[in-house]
Amino acid sequence: MNVEALAILGERRRIGVLFRYELAADTVVTRFVADEAFVQSMPQPTVSAAWLAESPLQQQALWRDVRSVAFNGRHSARNGWLLPAFFQNLLPEGVFRDRVAELRGCDPRDHFEMLAACGRDLPGNLYALPVALSRDELARYVTQHQDALEMSVTAEPLEDGVSLSGVQPKVGAIRDGERYVARTRDHDTHIIAKLPVVAQPRLPEVEDLSLRLAAAAGVEVCEAWLEPLAKLSILHGYDLGDSDAQTRFLAVRRFDRSPAGRIHNEDFAQVLGVMPEDKYGGVAGDAARSYVDVAAVLMGFDSLGEAAVHELLRRLVVNEMLGNPDMHLKNMGLVYPGGVAPRFAPAYDVVAYAAYSRHQGHALALLPAALAPPGGRLRQQQLSPAVVRAFCAALRIPEKPAAAAIREAVRAAVGQWRGLIEASALTTLQKSRLLAHFDAHPMVQSIARRVANRP
Ligand SMILES: Nc1ncnc2c1ncn2[C@@H]1O[C@H](COP(=O)(O)OP(=O)(O)OP(=O)(O)O)[C@@H](O)[C@H]1O
Ligand SMILES: [Mg+2]
Repeated sequence: MNVEALAILGERRRIGVLFRYELAADTVVTRFVADEAFVQSMPQPTVSAAWLAESPLQQQALWRDVRSVAFNGRHSARNGWLLPAFFQNLLPEGVFRDRVAELRGCDPRDHFEMLAACGRDLPGNLYALPVALSRDELARYVTQHQDALEMSVTAEPLEDGVSLSGVQPKVGAIRDGERYVARTRDHDTHIIAKLPVVAQPRLPEVEDLSLRLAAAAGVEVCEAWLEPLAKLSILHGYDLGDSDAQTRFLAVRRFDRSPAGRIHNEDFAQVLGVMPEDKYGGVAGDAARSYVDVAAVLMGFDSLGEAAVHELLRRLVVNEMLGNPDMHLKNMGLVYPGGVAPRFAPAYDVVAYAAYSRHQGHALALLPAALAPPGGRLRQQQLSPAVVRAFCAALRIPEKPAAAAIREAVRAAVGQWRGLIEASALTTLQKSRLLAHFDAHPMVQSIARRVANRP
């Protein structure tokens, strides 16, 4: 039996080992086991909010529970044998995944190999590097058929292997003066270059505008700006249609990279232990994840709390006004600036899809099925007063300040969005579609009416 292993490292220390072996032709074990030295160390950096216990003793027990769902992969009818959710969520998705698989010469569904390929440039402050386990370690990690174990060698990470999730064409880049270049052995990428997409004209311009609109409504957004493709010196292999040197891409500054080093982060699929394929909350019904689950996590940390829930609500109403039905679990995250306490990551991947076509509703339901007011499909519900009331009640937070945060965001949008949209680089049709969508939002209408009726 062949065993493959990757050492999982934080900034300067080993956290544990992720290993994989085939128990039988149809049973693959992929498991994370924390190192005893790490388990017994104090204080510990936060690896995932999903892996936190109440007390130091319970924390040790949690790490040692190697058979828990959190530390084991599982089979998916759609995507084969998956890594444990935390690690599966570190992998590239969509066309970016195919690109990395091509460079690595592996099957894009070989998730372990994909993680190994990108092991030096993963999201957050983590590394996954090949490691050879001794006989003793093998025997400790793998309990079945101990006598027939063989260590198989996993190749070193690709020099320019960068992992970013998301389905749109993108490359990791380093800004080098006026140019954007690929990762090198010694330099991390600190920019995400989001490329133009043939089927969605001016997508970088639409996303750039969307982030500025969100900021104008009071949302904390990541830093992003437009650049001409002429400045992008990276071979990427994507079909960019009939773009030319002046066609623009969106440069996004990564909040998990800084001149001083990496900053740990994770997305809400990791936080909630959900596989990427369930990033839209999973199968509809009682078990489906909703934004209340996200808010409940925020309420669990002193460093987040009610203020972070208000920020979530601001993002939700902004999404409604933009026609952005895509704030799924991987489009929200936590970032750990000091390595331990989380902050709500700035908003990213905010896109006004209303500029293309009609959009209503959210990526996840606002409320769990049991709490939602009757009528209509769950993901189509908007932040009506009844929904906000139920949302706050579910979290046991006061409704008034939450409703005020939403109202303030809408008020700011009513004051500033029209001018920003009209001055943007969108086509005339895109502007008019977006404005029509914005003007039709019930809260925008009610605030605009009040402004108009002022003496
Ligand atoms: N500013 C940022 N700093 C750090 N990481 C980021 C930032 N923006 C995005 N990311 C990470 O990169 C991933 C991909 O980015 P993004 O969501 O913008 O791409 P996408 O392809 O449009 O995604 P989707 O599939 O949701 O449409 C995100 O899921 C997130 O993990
Ligand atoms: Mg995304």
